[in-house]
Order: sequence, then C-alpha cells, then structure tokens
Amino acid sequence: MKLKTVRLPKSRRHQPMSARFAHNGHLNLSRLPHRLLIDGEWRDSVSGSTFETLNPATGETLARVAEGDREDINRAVAAARRAFERGPWRRLTPSERGRLLWKLADLLEEHTDQFAEIESLDNGKPRAVACVADVPLAVDLFRYMAGWATKIEGNTIPISVSGADFFAYTRREPVGVVGQIIPWNFPLLMAAWKLGPALATGCTVVLKPAEQTPLSALRLGELILKAGFPPGVVNIVTGYGETAGAALAQHPDVDKVAFTGSTEVGKLIARAATGNLKKVSLELGGKSPNIVLEDADTDTAIAGAANAVFFNHGQCCCAGSRLYVHKKKFDQVVDGVAAAAKKIKLGPGLSADTEMGPLVSEEQLERVMNYLDLGSREGARAIAGGHRKGNRGYFVEPTVLVNAKPGMKVMEEEIFGPVVCAIPFTDVEEVIPAANKNIYGLAAAVWTRDISKAHRIAHELKAGTVWINCYNVFDAALPFGGYKQSGWGREMGHDVLEMYTETKAVCARL
Ligand code: NAI
Ligand code: MG
Repeated sequence: MKLKTVRLPKSRRHQPMSARFAHNGHLNLSRLPHRLLIDGEWRDSVSGSTFETLNPATGETLARVAEGDREDINRAVAAARRAFERGPWRRLTPSERGRLLWKLADLLEEHTDQFAEIESLDNGKPRAVACVADVPLAVDLFRYMAGWATKIEGNTIPISVSGADFFAYTRREPVGVVGQIIPWNFPLLMAAWKLGPALATGCTVVLKPAEQTPLSALRLGELILKAGFPPGVVNIVTGYGETAGAALAQHPDVDKVAFTGSTEVGKLIARAATGNLKKVSLELGGKSPNIVLEDADTDTAIAGAANAVFFNHGQCCCAGSRLYVHKKKFDQVVDGVAAAAKKIKLGPGLSADTEMGPLVSEEQLERVMNYLDLGSREGARAIAGGHRKGNRGYFVEPTVLVNAKPGMKVMEEEIFGPVVCAIPFTDVEEVIPAANKNIYGLAAAVWTRDISKAHRIAHELKAGTVWINCYNVFDAALPFGGYKQSGWGREMGHDVLEMYTETKAVCARL
C-alpha cells in the first residue's frame, strides 16, 4: 500500500477487460447495472427518479443511477425481512454460507481489472492502486469471513444454581436485518467490510452506497446474484443520505445499522436508531497522530509519513494528518515529506503514470480548499502544495503545513484531503498527551528503533489501531475502529462478529 511503489503487476498491465464490458479498451458504463437490487431483481426506483454520478477527474457525468428513497428502502427492508425469516437463506448450513462467500470472492478476483476501473472512474483513485489495494483487500475480506461462517460458536456454561442439575449453553444467532450505509472513499472495500461479516453470520442486508460512488456496489450486486445468494439476502438501494440513508437508519424493522462516514452523520444515525433501539456500529472520522521519535530511521519515517497522509489523497478516516516529529529531526523529516509531496504526479486515475487522482467531488474540493485558506489565515504555512491544481476536475496539491498550533482548526478537525500538519516536540512525555488531545481516536503511529518505547507509547495512545514503523497496514484479521468520537465497535477480525450476532443463553433443567 505504499503510495510511491504501487504498480500494476506485469501480467495485469495490458490484460483485456471481459468482452461484455470491452468498449475501445474501456469500460462500457452503460452496461453496468444502474437500478436498485431488491429481492433478487433489478428495479427502477418507485418515484422513477435517477441521479448522476460524476467522474471527479473531469466533472463530467459518468452514468445515471436509480434514486432510491423511503419507499424503496421500505421494499428492500421487507425483502430482507422475508429472506431472513422464511427464505432458503435461513436453512443453509454454515458451510454453505461460507462457500457462497468464497464464490463471491473468486468472482470478484476474476473481475479485478473491471472493478479497479470502476473505482478509478467513480472515485478518482489511480486504477493501479485500486488493483493492488481496494480490490484484493475486498477479496481477502470475503475469504476471511467465509472461514468464520463455520466457527461462530457459543459456550457451555457451568452454572451454580443449587437444588437441580442444569445444562446451560450460549448460541450466537444472527442479529437479523441489517442496514449498512457506506462512504465514497473506498466504495468497494467498504461494501466488503460491511457485507462480509453480515453474510458470514447469517444476517440479511440493505446496503446504501454513497451517492458519489454507487457503481462498484451495483456491479458487486450482480456478482452476489451470480454467486448464488438467495433473493433478498443482499438488497442495494442507491440514493442520497438525507433520504434513503435516513429512512434506513430510522426503519422500525431494521435490527441493526452499521455506518461508516462522518462523525456528524454518525451522531444522526445513533439518534435515528433510538426509535426501535436497533443495534448500532459506527466507523467515523479521525485526526490521527503520526509520531517520529529522535532515533527513528529517517528515510523510512519520511516515506511512511508521506504514505500515511497522501494515500487515497488523504481521504482516509485513519490518515496520519498530525505529524509529530522530534525537534532534532524535524527539519530533515518534514523537508523530506515536503519533497515527496512535490514529486507526486497528479492526474486522472486511469493514466498509467498517475500517483494521485482528484478528490471525489466538488464538495470535498471546497471543503479542503476552505481548510487550506483557514490554515493560512490562522498562521500555518505551506512548505509544499497549498493550492488547487488546474481548474478541471477536483485536484489538490499534496500539502505540508508547518507553524500549526493546537487550537487551530487545521490541527483539530478532520480535513479529509492530502494535507498534513507537522509539529515539533521535545520529549515523549509531552507528545503523548498532545497526540491524545483530540475528539477522535481512530489510528496512530510511532516510528522508532527502540522497541520497548514503541510498545509503551502504543499502550498509551487512545486509538483503535497503533502502527509501529508502518502505516496503513490493513488485514481482514485485524480489527479496525475507533476510540472516542471515532466510533462504536470494530470492523474486521473476529471482533466484528459480535456486532452481527446476538448471544442467546439456553438453560435446561435436567
Ligand atoms: P457523510 O457522512 O455525509 O456520508 C457517508 C454516508 O452517509 C453516505 O452514504 C451518505 O449518503 C450517508 N448519509 C449522509 N447523511 C445521512 C443521514 N442523515 N442519514 C443516513 N445516512 C446519511 O460524509 P460526506 O458528506 O460524504 O463527507 C463529509 C466528511 O465526512 C468528509 O470530509 C470526511 O471528513 C468525513 N468522512 C469520513 C469517512 C470515513 O471513512 N470515516 C468517509 C467519508 C466521509
Ligand atoms: Mg454529508
């Protein structure tokens, strides 16, 4: 996942797309699904409305997709409920569920190039990155979760009630119908993070992709049907957050809602869920501290700090956006990150030499530009970048800010763009509280040769993930999620299974 070293494997570079989608060597977008997947069928929205999804490299329309609303959500939830209570899904063995997930992983892997191209067009990210990160990580997630389907176990419990013999045990049962609302920064991968555990545990799903990037989830819907998941197990309703998303979060017949996105909307989701007290898991924003100690290997730390914040154009909830560097190393490291920033080649995601694409939307461009403007008015100074690039598409130069002080908005708030604040520190006792002093607690990293110190700092950082001498290392087996306002619960690993199961205690008098 290192930004500068991502290259398509040789065997992939000139591989033709599958015939159905070949069109002058490019994806034929009109052949991609653009309707709602409800009860195993592709349907127009009840209102008949559609909305457009844009290519962020040009601002031009890529495709129009169905605009689902409350009524479509109602139908999708009803289909998911039927599939959960009465359909063949419930009677499948865990092994059969696992095999379906494995099949889906195989199908997705076969279509790696196609999905990488869809992600690149819809989100803006380099196709080469999607090919080696987004798609294979999604494939791996489905395989990892396929393995769990047969291992969701309860316990036998020795109870101490006297006067009779009892046999008591627990069962882990699927929580039921799950609403899943996902963002645009890793459209396919976020769909996989959400769908994998829900399907492994036997839940049924209504998935609401982000309005900016609906295309890969819809194409995944086709593969889900092809893999053989019964109708209604996975329903996909594209549409806006304030309408379709809100209807899903409020729905009285949804048992759980899983959300990834902004902390602001996460709070709305939690409130909306109180109607029927549905279970809630939230994966929200971050302002992750990346700490370089005096004894760190300088070159590794520089490359790592650049990757930490510039990967995916900084549109990562775990972006290393506060770079704390020991004062003796500050100039060397920060100049190194600035030099790396200046070398990054910006361009459309489909160009082979592009290292960083555009931001996802005009809204995000404005948001990041506002922060840059605010930062300079507050006294921060850009030693690399600081501007929009060109006036077509939503490109922003990778930016390194110095003179950022606690209390400044650029230091406290999530920018969600390729912008890092670099801050010098004198000793570890000072940097740990500074790193922890933020409303978020998603990720953190420390760079040092002193392994004891590294672990001690890792234990003191209030973050769901701490990387030591690395950054942005994700694995389906590693739980991911946040302390504080970065969310509730964990994605991936076996921890996520708790979010999708209820524990039932069964107690029998013998
Ligand atoms: P958002 O939180 O509004 O959107 C994420 C998802 O939530 C989308 O599917 C959206 O349609 C849905 N949504 C929006 N409002 C909703 C509502 N009232 N009820 C139910 N669902 C709703 O994020 P947005 O506006 O795209 O980006 C704004 C900021 O949020 C970013 O600049 C970034 O700071 C943060 N963000 C964080 C992400 C993360 O991975 N933690 C991902 C995307 C955005
Ligand atoms: Mg929003």
